[in-house]
Amino acid sequence: MHIIKVCTGVACKRNFGDENLKRAEKILGIKAGENKLKGSIQLENSGCLGHCEHAPNVYFGEASPISMLINDGKVEKHILPNKLEEKLKKLTFINSKYHE
Ligand code: FES
Repeated sequence: MHIIKVCTGVACKRNFGDENLKRAEKILGIKAGENKLKGSIQLENSGCLGHCEHAPNVYFGEASPISMLINDGKVEKHILPNKLEEKLKKLTFINSKYHE
C-alpha cells in the first residue's frame, strides 16, 4: 500500500500545502483519510514532517496491508502542486495497470 502524507503544517500551509492536499484529493478522487484502488493508495493530511525549511513537503511511503508497518518511506521536499500532480498521476497509472 502506498501512503501519501501531504503536510499542511504551518510552514507548508504557507507554501502551497493546502493546494497540494486539494490537488491530491482531486487527482486520487478521495478525501484525506480514505483509500483508493482496492486500498492500494492511502492519502493523509499530515502535521509537520520535520523539514519546514524545504516546504512544501510530502511523505511517500509503502506499508504492508496486513501489518501496516511503514517502510521505504521518505519525505520529498519542495513538492509544489504541479510536481505533486505529476507524481500522483504516474503512481495511479502504475497502480491501475497492476490492478487490471
Ligand atoms: S510544516 Fe511541513 S514540514 Fe514542517
